[in-house]
Amino acid sequence: MFSEVLPFDTSMDRIRARKPIGLILSGGPESVYDPQAPVVEDALFSLGIPVLGICYGMQFMMHRLGGGVEAGHGEYGRAKARVLAERSDLFTGLDRDQQVWASHGDRVLRAAPGFVQTAESDGAPFTAVEDRERNLYGLQFHPEVHHTDHGTAILRNFLYGVCGAVGDWSLASFVEQAIQEIRGQVGDAHVVCGLSGGVDSSVMALLLHRALGDALTCIFVNNGVLRKGEVDEVIHRFREDYHLDVRLADSADMFLSRLAGVTEPERKRKIIGETFIEIFEAEAARIKDARFLAQGTIYPDRIESASVKGPSATIKTHHNVGGLPDRMNLSLVEPLRDLFKDEVREVGRELGLSAAFVGRHPFPGPGLAVRILGEVTAERVGVLQQADAIFISELRSYGLYDSTAQAFVVLLPVKTVGVMGDQRTYESVAAIRVVTTTDFMTADWARLPAEFLALVANRIVNEVRGINRVVYDITSKPPGTIEWE
Ligand code: XMP
Repeated sequence: MFSEVLPFDTSMDRIRARKPIGLILSGGPESVYDPQAPVVEDALFSLGIPVLGICYGMQFMMHRLGGGVEAGHGEYGRAKARVLAERSDLFTGLDRDQQVWASHGDRVLRAAPGFVQTAESDGAPFTAVEDRERNLYGLQFHPEVHHTDHGTAILRNFLYGVCGAVGDWSLASFVEQAIQEIRGQVGDAHVVCGLSGGVDSSVMALLLHRALGDALTCIFVNNGVLRKGEVDEVIHRFREDYHLDVRLADSADMFLSRLAGVTEPERKRKIIGETFIEIFEAEAARIKDARFLAQGTIYPDRIESASVKGPSATIKTHHNVGGLPDRMNLSLVEPLRDLFKDEVREVGRELGLSAAFVGRHPFPGPGLAVRILGEVTAERVGVLQQADAIFISELRSYGLYDSTAQAFVVLLPVKTVGVMGDQRTYESVAAIRVVTTTDFMTADWARLPAEFLALVANRIVNEVRGINRVVYDITSKPPGTIEWE
């Protein structure tokens, strides 16, 4: 079984040509009443295959097929759903009371003819509907989100029970196939790639190295806003342990001088993205005969960058390297383009990437610059690096690193008064942010033990000059984002 994400305006012919056994209409930020809202053809509901609408997808289905949608009655975050129907394809075998994750601005108030209400929640009377005759299904909440208790089971019920899928796709032969494909594409040419030390680029570099050996050169750019010790660790590991050709572009000063005086988050991201491209380009130009650029693009990146061009809102500018291959006149190699993050990790393990690298939390391209609120200076980078290093090492020694998805310290542009010894202090506040999530599109704040938080706060305030107060961020996503900027 293979699944694919397509834009809403994919033609019916293209959809039919793929012979799908089922369709899912995703959620989205629009209201069905927005003139710009995405619309799919009605024919989609009469293809004779099961269709599941989620959130906006459900509202659209109801609106189009004769139900009623009420604008401006939202429900955000955790919600309780109660299964009402005696028989329901989606809830078969599941508890009648369930915790679900909701994020919608409108709600369905009347099901379209032919549909029965199968579940309700406090904020959405029609939180689930089914028309078993036509195999059409709607969920107001998000089954794809980790915080929906039985989300995966609901999707399984749809895929296996309703669509008749078998779930036989496997990663087993991926590495061999990918190596053959890379060799076929690249031939005798030389390939360059950016290596950031993150999971995706690390796995990509190892895979390319396995396929091409010396015909690969990696470029590691030090942008001056990396974690403490990161440059040495990545360079050492990939040169010494994995024998890759890694060039270090040590450009910290250039990045920091361009960031001087800049406080606006999107501006920081832009400066870092553009400077990265400039440096990478200059470095790559020095590599003789390079004809290919490899990128660690994974499947969710492709969906996200497609949606940036399409209808959904750009929350933050995530993709820093767009346009690079065209400008550099290089062809693109993207060996991980069809994989999800957990699959990339599995490939990494198969290629011998150490557990510490495979299990790394994500780190954003603009690095500590988006975790230093206000101006980014070398001094403030140093302060945050120290605090973050203390925090992460304690998180690891408490065994909490692997059970959380992302954890870091944020340096705030706020000073508070404190007392140390008999001295008055007037220093910055640091915030600790720790989230649990599997998809990073939604996240919850991690309920860490109070004694652990007390210990790290104590160590940070005592050991890091420049921070005299630590606070803990208890905001979920949505409405917050994971990073602060
Ligand atoms: P937000 O803050 O949008 O972050 O909830 C979701 C995930 O994306 C990471 N992130 C980035 N990754 N370049 C990246 O490669 C970026 O510019 C960027 N901004 C955020 C963030 O760390 C989290 O894992």
